[in-house]
Amino acid sequence: MIVLVGSEKGGVGKSTIAAHAAVRLSMTGKPTLLVDTDPQTTSASWAAARRLHQPDLAPVDSRKITGDIRSSIKELAQSYGHIVIDCGGADSVALRSGMLIANRLIIPSRVARRDLETLRHVSALVQTANEQRQSSGLNPILARVVFNMTRALPNFWTRIDAAKEVIEAMGLGVSQYPIVDRVSYDDSQHEGGTVFDSSADHKAYEEMQRVLQALLRKKQPE
Ligand SMILES: Nc1ncnc2c1ncn2[C@@H]1O[C@H](COP(=O)(O)OP(=O)(O)OP(=O)(O)O)[C@@H](O)[C@H]1O
Ligand SMILES: [Mg+2]
Repeated sequence: MIVLVGSEKGGVGKSTIAAHAAVRLSMTGKPTLLVDTDPQTTSASWAAARRLHQPDLAPVDSRKITGDIRSSIKELAQSYGHIVIDCGGADSVALRSGMLIANRLIIPSRVARRDLETLRHVSALVQTANEQRQSSGLNPILARVVFNMTRALPNFWTRIDAAKEVIEAMGLGVSQYPIVDRVSYDDSQHEGGTVFDSSADHKAYEEMQRVLQALLRKKQPE
């Protein structure tokens, strides 16, 4: 499976979700690669730290690639069962070309109004990519917005539901499970870890497991 994690907004959790998706997919036993297209190289550094400090955990290889990533990814897909691509926080050639080759697109977003507004343009990019995919005989990319850094307060669900409506009106699907703001997501990434690698925060483990299971399952419910 080729999973693209991208948005045009910075600091929304792309690298965090990409790292967790890569580890989750690696836990299935297939060789897994995390591709970093971001000049900040957060994901490549995280993967290098994982190989250095946590050699016994589910392994994640990494590569830095920029520009049109299609031919490199096609070639790498011959050696890797799963590829997760962390696309930096901007409209880029990597993001647009990634949409033409990936099976899944995960778009992390906060529930804040300004963040939601940036999704309008992402939705247009997805639509353009799907038109191009259709003309090449490919299935559409399965794109889902996932709310990140939400609050675990009962009345926050009203905000989540309202945001979901706004995004669906833009033509994008929304993951049914949000990711709550928890310090363990930040803490766990030290030395290449994830919440899957320790039993310190069960809630985070189960939450991320639920989110990724829904986003990465082979057959999507209609
Ligand atoms: N659900 C969460 N709860 C708490 N902290 C989080 C959560 N998701 C991400 N973070 C933290 O927020 C910060 C930004 O996350 P991250 O680096 O994954 O975002 P990004 O979208 O990749 O940013 P950039 O645009 O700079 O590449 C990091 O310190 C990360 O550990
Ligand atoms: Mg990042």
